[in-house]
Amino acid sequence: MKLLVIGSGGREHAIAKKFTESPLVKTVFCAKGNIGMIQDGIQLVDIAENDHDSLIQFVKAEQIAWTFVGPELSLFEGITDAFETAGLKIFGPSKKAADLECSKQFAKDLMKKYAIPTASYKTFEEYKLAVSYVESKGVPIVIKADGLAAGKGVIIAVTMKEATDALRHMLLEGKYATGKPKVVIEEYLEGEEFSLFALVNGSNYYYAGVAQDHKRAYDGDEGPNTGGMGAYSPVPQVSKERIQEVMETVIKPTVNAMVAEGCPFKGVIYAGLMMTNKGLKVIEYNARFGDPETQVLMHQLASDLAQIIDDILNEKTPLIKMHTDRYTLGIVVSAEGYPEFPMSNISIPQMTTKGTGCNIYVAGMKKVETNLVSSGGRILLVEAQGTTLQEAQKKAYRYLEDNPICHTYYRMDIGEKAIQFGENKKDPKNKVLFN
Ligand code: AMP
Ligand code: GLY
Repeated sequence: MKLLVIGSGGREHAIAKKFTESPLVKTVFCAKGNIGMIQDGIQLVDIAENDHDSLIQFVKAEQIAWTFVGPELSLFEGITDAFETAGLKIFGPSKKAADLECSKQFAKDLMKKYAIPTASYKTFEEYKLAVSYVESKGVPIVIKADGLAAGKGVIIAVTMKEATDALRHMLLEGKYATGKPKVVIEEYLEGEEFSLFALVNGSNYYYAGVAQDHKRAYDGDEGPNTGGMGAYSPVPQVSKERIQEVMETVIKPTVNAMVAEGCPFKGVIYAGLMMTNKGLKVIEYNARFGDPETQVLMHQLASDLAQIIDDILNEKTPLIKMHTDRYTLGIVVSAEGYPEFPMSNISIPQMTTKGTGCNIYVAGMKKVETNLVSSGGRILLVEAQGTTLQEAQKKAYRYLEDNPICHTYYRMDIGEKAIQFGENKKDPKNKVLFN
């Protein structure tokens, strides 16, 4: 069969590459894709991700079996609704169901209504009321712009000034707002953060792995929030029992709630979770795979992703198996100044991974004449595997040391917390479980 992937980042590169490995698949197209995909045999389609009419025409002309949606923006723009109206199969939620990610207020209200554990919160449109609320609660406190902000619309305010500055930017100046500015103000949660992925169709849901991202820009979880600076999978701090708990207390009630609310979910539910000392809490939902989590997750998935999605779309039970004998770790290389003011058009040298045991997934790179230059804040991800997390980490960092790129940076501590956890593990019952 022929498949189409929507998107153009590292996540879509990893998904499309995984599809090419399936014996069921003849051709994988990606709209618009990126230059890094070509060497993996993925066919780039020069149609904008929001040009639904042209995409539909293309899918019909090429007789594509189904389409997989990578980014949240496409879901927010209603690509699933447009494709389904045209009678085409697509894996991704409807615009309404994508509110699970696209509207923080929808997600928080849903969790409250269906008793899904999350941080306490209140929603505000009025600057003065929001400031009084923050004053009454004190800091640290979390302020989130309602709407899509590529991971950047969340401010963890440690001082009152940071809190009022964030409220001013979001409510008075409309930073990140697509409609009327609105914020969700949340209790600050402390603990170990991880992401769990589930593949969903209506009331059916299937576990598809865990990963840990590194959201802050700098080492030691310092600096501004980003789209993600590196990831690894599996997560030794997350036991099999914990995964079962998430499936039972978060994923199951969420999919049932979406059915009950009249907007059944089809696609990927990505639960951002925190293990706090008051128990497990949902930080956020995303309605698609994570970037850079997907790049590492695809290497941990032992089953055929094309077969899995085909089965789910045809209401059959898929076989989803994860590798249990290895770790994958990926490090994002970002442009100087990312996330606030990323430098553009940074010259990128030709890089080869031959003989290194590493893979590269391109996120933001283009060709200008014969030269490669950066085209976005996150440029690429270098990823490696190992039988231990240390081995994967060492390989990936060695590659980056051997292949420096001027005017870029990356975090030096991807995977470090998990490695420390492994070394400090004192409780023999809390043994590291592969998942
Ligand atoms: P979100 O876009 O909601 O995922 O938030 C981005 C990041 O901000 C999360 O991955 C967390 O690291 C952090 N964050 C969000 N909400 C909270 C919270 N209530 N307490 C602590 N950290 C949070
Ligand atoms: N890595 C975070 C995200 O994809 O939202």
